Amino acid sequence: MGGRPEYDVLATGRDQCPRFSGGSCGYIQLDITNVEATNRVFVDFEPNVVINCAAMTQVDECESKRDQCWQVNALAVDTLAKCCLTHGSRLIHISTDFIFDGQNGPYKESARPNPISYYGRSKLAGENYARGAGMDKWAIVRTVLVYGRGEQLQRSNFVWWLKEKLEAGESVNIVTDQWRTPTYTPDLALGIEKIVRFGEQGVYHISGRDYFSVHEFALEIANTLDLDASLIKPVDGSSFSQPAARPAKSGFIILKAESELGYSPRPTRQAILDLVEEEERSRSSF
Ligand SMILES: NC(=O)c1ccc[n+]([C@@H]2O[C@H](COP(=O)([O-])OP(=O)(O)OC[C@H]3O[C@@H](n4cnc5c(N)ncnc54)[C@H](OP(=O)(O)O)[C@@H]3O)[C@@H](O)[C@H]2O)c1
Repeated sequence: MGGRPEYDVLATGRDQCPRFSGGSCGYIQLDITNVEATNRVFVDFEPNVVINCAAMTQVDECESKRDQCWQVNALAVDTLAKCCLTHGSRLIHISTDFIFDGQNGPYKESARPNPISYYGRSKLAGENYARGAGMDKWAIVRTVLVYGRGEQLQRSNFVWWLKEKLEAGESVNIVTDQWRTPTYTPDLALGIEKIVRFGEQGVYHISGRDYFSVHEFALEIANTLDLDASLIKPVDGSSFSQPAARPAKSGFIILKAESELGYSPRPTRQAILDLVEEEERSRSSF
């Protein structure tokens, strides 16, 4: 990669085979709730840096499968942090805006967490395990409403889901009373890479810069892609009966990442165009 340090990367996941193809990244199967297997990977690979993206992320399912949620989002982070401490690795742990209650976002890194869902509680516990393990080398990267592309993704993302609905002429109900700073995955990756490269430590808010209600974000997607915005119906969150509460005003102030890391996410409109272009390029190469 032009001008960037070279990294020797090992990806892990629960599947026997990787979902990605190509690239120079290695892969092994690992369930991070398996303490012994996790320890073994540290012994075999001796990582300098560990980036933990694994989590149970379906917020409603986290309410009903609390034990499973806690195992992955909290206890497995404890295991990773202890392994990092033992092996002198840096832990970069990915976390979420859902650790906040959404009363007064957008939030700075120093804002007081107050989760309103079990998912949020488990992710906050994960953060506390990461920062409390005694490592001198840790970073917590919190992010918000992430969208991007990838191969064989288990879950779609908001931009792609909306694009497909509008292209099919289906109307969609989108909430007007939840605010976010949506994040494009390549920008998030660049932010994380800067933390790796500069050896930064502490909590970083890495998200997009633009602050939207989810409804405004949907309109931005429709207008950018020239889709029929009249199919997007404004509703408030109370019209959905969902087991987990969602923060109303979350979203991040990213000034710390901008000033300390030179992090600079692209404008949302550009990100949406880049995502579609990237997807089309990848489809045409098959
Ligand atoms: N997406 C967002 O809008 C958003 C917003 C804020 C923060 N985040 C944070 O970003 C991180 C990544 O989220 P995401 O959106 O990419 O979620 P995702 O699509 O649900 O991916 C989570 C990954 O974790 C893996 N995983 C779950 N349990 C595991 C285990 N025990 N061992 C190993 N891997 C396991 C899952 O594997 P399987 O595919 O096998 O289930 C999946 O690949 C999470 O920390 C999340 O809290 C995401």
